[in-house]
Amino acid sequence: MVDTSFSNMTHSTQATERFLHVITWGCQMNVYDSNRMVDLLRPLGYKVTDKSEKADILILNTCHIRDKATEKVFSELGRLRQIKEYREEQGQETIIAVAGCVAQAEGEIILKRAPYVDIVFGPQTYHRLPKMILDIARKSGNVIETDFPVESKFDFLPAPEEAQGHTAFLTIQEGCDKFCSFCVVPYTRGAEESRPVQAIIDEATRLCELGVKEISLLGQNVNAYHGQGPDGNIWDLVKLAEKLSTIPGLKRIRYTTSHPNDMSDSLIAAHRDLPALMPFLHLPVQSGSDRVLKAMNRGHTAKEYYELVDKIKKARPDIALSSDFIIGHPGESIDDFKATMKLVNDITFAMAYSFKYSPRPGTSAAVSTNQVLENEKDARLQELQAVLKDQQTKFNQDTVGRTIPILFTNKGRKEGQIAGKSPYLQAVHVQGDESLIGQEHLVEVNECLTFSLSGNLVKESIPL
Ligand code: 5AD
Ligand code: SF4
Repeated sequence: MVDTSFSNMTHSTQATERFLHVITWGCQMNVYDSNRMVDLLRPLGYKVTDKSEKADILILNTCHIRDKATEKVFSELGRLRQIKEYREEQGQETIIAVAGCVAQAEGEIILKRAPYVDIVFGPQTYHRLPKMILDIARKSGNVIETDFPVESKFDFLPAPEEAQGHTAFLTIQEGCDKFCSFCVVPYTRGAEESRPVQAIIDEATRLCELGVKEISLLGQNVNAYHGQGPDGNIWDLVKLAEKLSTIPGLKRIRYTTSHPNDMSDSLIAAHRDLPALMPFLHLPVQSGSDRVLKAMNRGHTAKEYYELVDKIKKARPDIALSSDFIIGHPGESIDDFKATMKLVNDITFAMAYSFKYSPRPGTSAAVSTNQVLENEKDARLQELQAVLKDQQTKFNQDTVGRTIPILFTNKGRKEGQIAGKSPYLQAVHVQGDESLIGQEHLVEVNECLTFSLSGNLVKESIPL
């Protein structure tokens, strides 16, 4: 019955063009999810538009990880409501859908405060989006889909039909069972789940057929990946990456985000032995203080993080490390903060994200009575960010004079330029022909600018 209605809808939508506009906030996984929503709605006749006023469906894919997420959502919804009302005056209907982690956490509140929203659905239910749209088309009222479904959304994802370019994200794992004191992910994304190997290989193969050369494997705990293999065994990230590296056309594999406790010896060894695995590792430490790490429920000490980094650097000396830091977790003293600064100065990071702690409803740290004052958090964050920025600049400057492979992904900002990424995720541009876009070539880096590196193509270079 549902299927019949789908085909009816497809026919009716083909007469007039229908458009879909997705606004994405937050992490790379949200970007991936938004792309899959587009793939799911394409068979219903919806085409993507970047103009919200033109859209028959407006999807706001939200993030709940930090800051005033809910307020931001309501403010954006106010804008979308105006568009909906304006279109209504023109005789056009508009479906407004709120997706992602705020939808998961605050679904009921959203429908109460913004009754003009038609659909609210969490990250685990977006595979049901076509049916939800259909329910709305049947005028059966608002739809809320925030229960964790018994079926896995991974089983219902269509194959990608369009690649956005030569690099792509691919979700291989979702959810988290670690329950760090500050984090909403276990509540909004649910329990840790690994996608089966064959589905990942199929999607990666399809992406490579569409011209993708670099795939970033995504997961909240990606290095804990343990998916069902086609041989009936459980595969870890190393085995998966080895298999993916045999796909024709695939040059580069990255993965993010990793937890230090899941950084196995074999994964460290793969950074030495598997050429496709890029020498860049995002390994959040959050704090350099054992007291705070314990309060955060991170499950390791600062010393253990130092030792882990030593091991990784021994296996792959040129690896670029990146991290996340939270400043002002409840109970963080000046000495705790100094321990974080010491860790940063000792290890040095090529890149890092640092945040002021913000209480997330439902998490254990949010109810702590030991909150750090806002102005104290500000001062500490500034001090940390100044050092992190210097380290990033120094890392980029140290690349000058080196000859490294660059995967060209797009035209540069100036005439005759092409731009791409180094193995260490740095933006690099050179004077070069557009025909090189989608290829990897050796570049001699000769200048470090504010936001990118510039260099020259090595003359005799052939595609790597
Ligand atoms: N406050 C501040 N930063 C947070 N993060 C997660 N939760 C919070 C929070 N409540 C940061 C962590 C994590 C990154 C994705 O976001 O550093 O690694
Ligand atoms: Fe959140 Fe990462 Fe901790 Fe999981 S491991 S609870 S995703 S910070």
